[in-house]
Amino acid sequence: MQVNTDTILKEFAQAFEGHAPTVLARAPGRVNLIGEHTDYNEGYVLPIAMDRAIFVAARPRDDGRLRAQSTLFNETVAWPLEELGGPGEPAWANYVKGTAAMLMRHGVELCGADLLIVSELPIGGGVSSSAALEVGTAKALLALTEAFVDPVQLALLCRQAEHEFANSPCGIMDQFASLLTHEGAALLLDCRSQQFDHLPFAPEGAAIVVMDTQVKHSIGGSEYPVRQKQCLAGVEFFRQNDASVRALRDVNEVMLARHAGQMDPTVAARCRHVVTENARVVHASEALRAGAFHEFGQLMTDSHRSLRDDYKVSCAELDALVELACDIGGVYGARMTGGGFGGCAIALVEDHAIDALTRAIKSRYDRQFDKPALVYTTRAAAGAEALHL
Ligand code: GLA
Repeated sequence: MQVNTDTILKEFAQAFEGHAPTVLARAPGRVNLIGEHTDYNEGYVLPIAMDRAIFVAARPRDDGRLRAQSTLFNETVAWPLEELGGPGEPAWANYVKGTAAMLMRHGVELCGADLLIVSELPIGGGVSSSAALEVGTAKALLALTEAFVDPVQLALLCRQAEHEFANSPCGIMDQFASLLTHEGAALLLDCRSQQFDHLPFAPEGAAIVVMDTQVKHSIGGSEYPVRQKQCLAGVEFFRQNDASVRALRDVNEVMLARHAGQMDPTVAARCRHVVTENARVVHASEALRAGAFHEFGQLMTDSHRSLRDDYKVSCAELDALVELACDIGGVYGARMTGGGFGGCAIALVEDHAIDALTRAIKSRYDRQFDKPALVYTTRAAAGAEALHL
C-alpha cells in the first residue's frame, strides 16, 4: 500500500475527534544489501532505506496522555506519560510505548500526544517495520517538543526500546538504516565503532527487486538468540588462544582455518559465516565504489549460500527465490535479506530482466509454494524525517 498525506489527514481527524496533526514523521523500512547477522558480532552491514515507510502523524495534548492509533490494526491505546509501565498488549503498541519510555529515560521532556500510525510496510515481513515504527514515533515525539537527540544516540534508544519492550534482542542495523540513510546511497556501518559512510547506490539501468515470501518471522522467539549464543561460544573459543578477541569481528579467515578442526562443528560453521560475511561487506563496498555490479552481485549470492549452509537461517521459500533469480540473465545476484526464516529475498537486476524475473516467480515459485511471492522494486530512499505541518 502506498499512502498519501491527504489520506493521513482524513484518518487523523476520524481517529482524534476532528483534530489535525501538527507534525508528520516518515520512517522508512530497509533492505540490507549485504552483511547479515554481522551487526551483533560488531561487524559491518550495508543497508539501504526503502521507498516504503511508516508514517506517524502527531499533535500535542495538554493532559500528559499519549494516545496512539494504528490504522493497520484498527486499535487505539492510551497511557499517561508518567505511567507508561512495561510491555503489554497489544504487541504493536509496545514499540510506541517503549520508544517514549526510552526518550524520557534519556531526559527528553515529552508532552502528551495523539499519534496516528499508517504503514506501507508489511509486519514481520523482513523489511524492519518494527525499527521504522520506533524511529517514526521518536521523530514525531521529538518534533512536537522541538527536542533534539543526536541520530546515533536516537538509533540506540530505539534499539533499546525493542530490547526492553518487544523482547527482541536485535542488533543496531535496522534503526541505523531507518535513521541515518541518504537518498541514492547505501549505509556502510561499522557496528563496533558506529562510524558510517554513505556509498552512492543508484545503479544505472538496474534496480533492487524485493521478493517477499510472505512467510512471517519474529526474531525474539526464533533461532535468532540461539545464533547469538553460538557466536558467543565462538568468541570464547578464540579468546582462549588470543585474549584480544572481543567479538567475531576480531577473527579472520586464517585464524578460522587454523582452529576450525578443534571447534564444535556447528559453532565453527556459524563463525565461518560471520567471518566471511564481514570480508564480503568490505569487498562489496569496494565493488560498489568501483561500479563493479557483477562482482557486487556475486558477493550477494555468496552471502546467501553462506547464510543457507553455514548460518542456517534461510528457508525453502527464500532458497527457491534466490536460485530462481540467479538463473535469469540480467540478474547480478540475489540473497535473503534481514534475519531470515521467511521475510524477503532481494535481487540486483538489470531493468530489462525485471519482467522475466517476475514471470518466472509467478510460473515457478507461486505454483510450488502455498503463498504467492509479492514482488516489487525499490531504490535507496532518504532516511527518516519529520515535517511541521
Ligand atoms: C534482524 C535484526 C538486525 C540484524 C538482522 C540480521 O533484522 O533486527 O539487527 O541482526 O536481523 O542481519
